Amino acid sequence: MMTMRTQVGIVGAGPAGLMLAHLLRRAGIDSIVIENRSRRYIEERIRAGVLEQGVVDLMHEIGLGARMDRVGLVHRGIELRFDRRGHRLDFADLTGGKGIMVYAQHEVVKDLVQARLDAGAPLLFEVEDTAVHEIDSTRPRITFRHQDEECEILCDFIAGCDGFHGVCRPAIPPGVLTVHERHYPFAWLGVLAQVAPSADELIYAYSERGFTLHSMRSPEISRLYLQVTPDEDLDAWPAERIWENLRARSAVNGSWHLRDGPILQKDLTRMRSFVAEPMQYGRLFLMGDAAHIVPPTGAKGLNLAIADVRVFARAVEEFYKAGASDKLAAYSATALRRVWKAERFSWWMTSMLHRFPDEDSFGHHMHLAELDYVTSSRAAATALAENYVGLPWD
Ligand code: FAD
Ligand code: DHB
Repeated sequence: MMTMRTQVGIVGAGPAGLMLAHLLRRAGIDSIVIENRSRRYIEERIRAGVLEQGVVDLMHEIGLGARMDRVGLVHRGIELRFDRRGHRLDFADLTGGKGIMVYAQHEVVKDLVQARLDAGAPLLFEVEDTAVHEIDSTRPRITFRHQDEECEILCDFIAGCDGFHGVCRPAIPPGVLTVHERHYPFAWLGVLAQVAPSADELIYAYSERGFTLHSMRSPEISRLYLQVTPDEDLDAWPAERIWENLRARSAVNGSWHLRDGPILQKDLTRMRSFVAEPMQYGRLFLMGDAAHIVPPTGAKGLNLAIADVRVFARAVEEFYKAGASDKLAAYSATALRRVWKAERFSWWMTSMLHRFPDEDSFGHHMHLAELDYVTSSRAAATALAENYVGLPWD
């Protein structure tokens, strides 16, 4: 058995685990990160694409903004499209100059992995059989196998950053957590296409044939999504069917034209809202998808993971520097205030923009009226904009 000792043992090298390790290192706190996938896998996994203003500012603050500034795309608004018309929401105007950055999650992951390796700090890939032990004591442990060797990490705290299907949340004894959950009767078919985006900003479109979202990864690569049924067979969606649906669902009066091109990748994302509370038990703290899931409409998942981590990093820093545990004790309550607001926003955007299976003409008119209101009332538009660019951290 190889035994290692650290202050914070971090399970999972997604955005949450890697960002936490980075923030802790800057505060002079040691950590070890373990990840069950390979470096290549996590650096190529296509997921979220939008960073809130606060996350963009944080990337700059921690010295990781250079590549993001070079290849990321700053957006100052989005378009909402319905009833064959497009309406721009000007975030800069509505939020006092804030915006978002289109910069893929796996690019953030690459930057954080590189920073960790450059610092010579421990990050172990392809670990197996991770388990956490004695989480309600002051000496919690993580065990796993790495390169055929049984390993153990002795630590002061365990950060469960291992995503929705990880081992940390299930290690909390039965009866402690309360789960709040909602499943949606649809999923997103995601497409990565080798074609220049057809618009400069993101387009969220509602139509009688369902929702569609036009996003991008670079000036040459489009990222597009279509609302489909939850157990959709991807093989039933050849390129022609995808482009026909995208075109029909985002059609507008006038001369706008959807550019198409070779499809590089297709994927299916199921939609659910999920919150497990509290987000801590003993010395185990859950962060990001390990504790909560949002449906992707509004791009909150990754941003919320970073917000949790920031709260936890500050609390641990206070613990080591001032010997105070108040912030640690308040971690769950502090994080959940933001979590629930992001849950509400994601649920609302999802409900407003998708067709529900049993929808009648009244339901259809509710979508249209709400979209009309959001795009014609400055108060309503501001409410959307301030959530989209990210609510204040504290
Ligand atoms: P994760 O990114 O899931 O990271 C957890 C890490 O822990 C993973 O690397 C995993 O391999 C590792 N791990 C798991 N179990 C163990 C273990 N036992 N031992 C060691 N390591 C372990 N959000 C959006 O806003 N927009 C989107 O378009 C979008 N698309 C998504 C598509 C998919 C398929 C998924 C799953 C999520 C998507 N999300 C999207 C959500 C967003 O990507 C997540 O909210 C974000 O990844 C959360 O980061 P995290 O670090 O908490 O979790
Ligand atoms: C992307 C994903 C989202 O969920 C969203 O609301 C906006 C953009 C994206 O992958 O680019």
